[in-house]
Amino acid sequence: MEIRKVGVVGCGLMGSGIAEVCARAGYSVIVREVNEELLQKGLARIHKSLATAAAKGKITQEEATQAWARIHGTMSLADFSGCDLVVEAAVENMTLKKEVFAELDGILAPHAILASNTSSLCVTEMAGATRRGDKVLGIHFFNPVPVMPLIEFVRTILTSDDTMAAARQFGASLGKTMVTAKDTPGFIVNRLLIPYVLDAVRVYEEGLATREDIDTAIKLGLNHPMGPLTLLDFVGLDTCLFIADAMFDEYKDRRYAAPPLLRRMVLAGQLGRKSGKGFYDYQ
Ligand code: CAA
Repeated sequence: MEIRKVGVVGCGLMGSGIAEVCARAGYSVIVREVNEELLQKGLARIHKSLATAAAKGKITQEEATQAWARIHGTMSLADFSGCDLVVEAAVENMTLKKEVFAELDGILAPHAILASNTSSLCVTEMAGATRRGDKVLGIHFFNPVPVMPLIEFVRTILTSDDTMAAARQFGASLGKTMVTAKDTPGFIVNRLLIPYVLDAVRVYEEGLATREDIDTAIKLGLNHPMGPLTLLDFVGLDTCLFIADAMFDEYKDRRYAAPPLLRRMVLAGQLGRKSGKGFYDYQ
């Protein structure tokens, strides 16, 4: 099956990155947001990112212009009717995702593949909201999408070999390296990342070391690009807490139990970079 037109549901940080890499790979892209303000904000993020990539010489100005021309915004899923693949990158809310999947199932052609960029929710449950379970999978990108070289595919017990083959061809066309995981909370990356960042918060909460020393130790001692508390701020404390809660809910294992400090910081609106304050100050 040839994928020519890609739909992206959601034009937030992940959705805009996904739309950008798809357009840069030559796909015609339609991206949907729930209102005009969010749509314009998301499209402006893509425009800026393409301009930065061109200014740095990663792509030519001509390639940036062409990629931008391939992207169209909408507020209606009905405009996705010609898509061969849709990647859902809406907020992490199962009820909402199932509504989106059910609606798209009625709009898309029978051959079209439906994917979710969820980082922790059950892809099988989303497949259950459609009559095309064999054409549903998880395609999990990493932030920042244009920079991070990995895609994690999530295969459910319903996903067909043909769907996996088409997804692999798509991933390769984006220039990404691909891994495949079963539909279990956290898949591969977050299954290992979440206990690690939660432990970093516990270590900080216990007063074992300062936040700077915890981050410096990991950055320079293990050659990670970011220390764990900086990474939490980067990903968003609310996002990490949401993933941890979903994993704890499934496994009931204390490794995934969020430390009290993390929950309280989220309750206090200290979400990391996006709110201007997390473990560090960004104002
Ligand atoms: N969009 C496009 N390019 C970006 C970018 C963005 N948002 N942010 C950074 N870059 C590019 C820069 O332009 C720069 O490119 P050049 O080297 O060609 O100039 C390169 O990335 C490095 O950026 P910087 O020099 O500004 O800063 P840095 O060296 O600190 O790198 C980083 C920034 C790439 C984000 C790096 O710190 C990093 O890899 N951090 C870890 C990120 C990570 O772990 N992401 C996964 C999070 S988990 C997740 O996403 C999944 C989940 O389910 C929670």
